[in-house]
Amino acid sequence: MCNIRKLTQADKAELPHLSTLIFPSHRDTLIESLQETADSFSFVAEIDDTVVGLALVERGEQADSATLHSVFVQKPYRRRGIAQALLERVSRSLVEQGCAFLEASYTSRLKTRETLEALLSNDGWSSPWKRILFCRGDILRIQSEASWVKRAQRTSRGFSIFPWAELSQEDRVELEAGIEAGSIPFELSPFYKEELIQWETSVGLRYHDRVVGWQVNHLIPELPATIRYSRTFVEERFQRMGRAITLMSESVRRHCELVQSEYPHFLSDVAYQREAMVRFYERHLCPHSESVYSSFGIKKQLQVS
Ligand SMILES: CC(C)(COP(=O)(O)OP(=O)(O)OC[C@H]1O[C@@H](n2cnc3c(N)ncnc32)[C@H](O)[C@@H]1OP(=O)(O)O)[C@@H](O)C(=O)NCCC(=O)NCCS
Repeated sequence: MCNIRKLTQADKAELPHLSTLIFPSHRDTLIESLQETADSFSFVAEIDDTVVGLALVERGEQADSATLHSVFVQKPYRRRGIAQALLERVSRSLVEQGCAFLEASYTSRLKTRETLEALLSNDGWSSPWKRILFCRGDILRIQSEASWVKRAQRTSRGFSIFPWAELSQEDRVELEAGIEAGSIPFELSPFYKEELIQWETSVGLRYHDRVVGWQVNHLIPELPATIRYSRTFVEERFQRMGRAITLMSESVRRHCELVQSEYPHFLSDVAYQREAMVRFYERHLCPHSESVYSSFGIKKQLQVS
């Protein structure tokens, strides 16, 4: 007989076993979820007092949504409806809390992707949609193979490229105002995770004295020896003129010349809604990458009574 219950602080001693039922990257959230006041919570499935399955959920910043981080059932107990029972319990609990949506994301690298999609489809979730395209590989390969990097890059009259570390306080105030006003999309903000910016390879683009674009890169604590090409932006009126590619190319040049021995790898990602950039990735970056994958979003509308 399978019993589903919420984890509490009283389960703390079980953490070593519980941690085997989630991806390591979610361990801290699992620990938090034991606290009554946390935004996250976990349900477990027990058979004969042994935990054989776990679902971990976190309430979103918006009060009406939550994220399913993980659902796992130990191998000998699969295909008995245990994950389904965990998900039903999660949904019921969220409805009681007034939550309208449950969301999840995963990448095409997930080995059990088809199983997860079958499980969520069975539980009434939407079809998955593509969110982000990722390319990973060796930066020297990009430099030696990619025609857009090999070609000498020139900036046209009035434009100049500068090291992002030289951004002035005045520039910052103006860009922050642009983000606030919505003329610069928040998700392309150059001020994202500033403590992790990789300064030697991050560059900005000026048109006369105004900053109109950037390629801002980051270090990723979980991925050593890798620079993430994370924020590529050129103001709308200067787009479609190869300027974003000039910026990326300058970044690659600096990466190879200044820090390649310390960071031989790159990770570059773009949201699927940026169609022109996705086409550029597909034609000019994916073919020179070691690994290309996508992330997907998926959503369940909860019945709020
Ligand atoms: C995914 C997982 C949690 C499913 O657990 P489970 O307890 O076996 O799932 P259930 O028995 O509740 O399955 C419910 C429905 O999901 C679908 N499903 C589950 N496993 C499936 C599989 N291997 N192939 C196809 N459909 C599957 C079926 O529709 C199933 O209903 P049915 O058995 O009546 O056909 C389990 O396989 C697992 O822990 N995998 C590894 C961890 C993982 O990848 N988690 C997802 C990412 S966080």
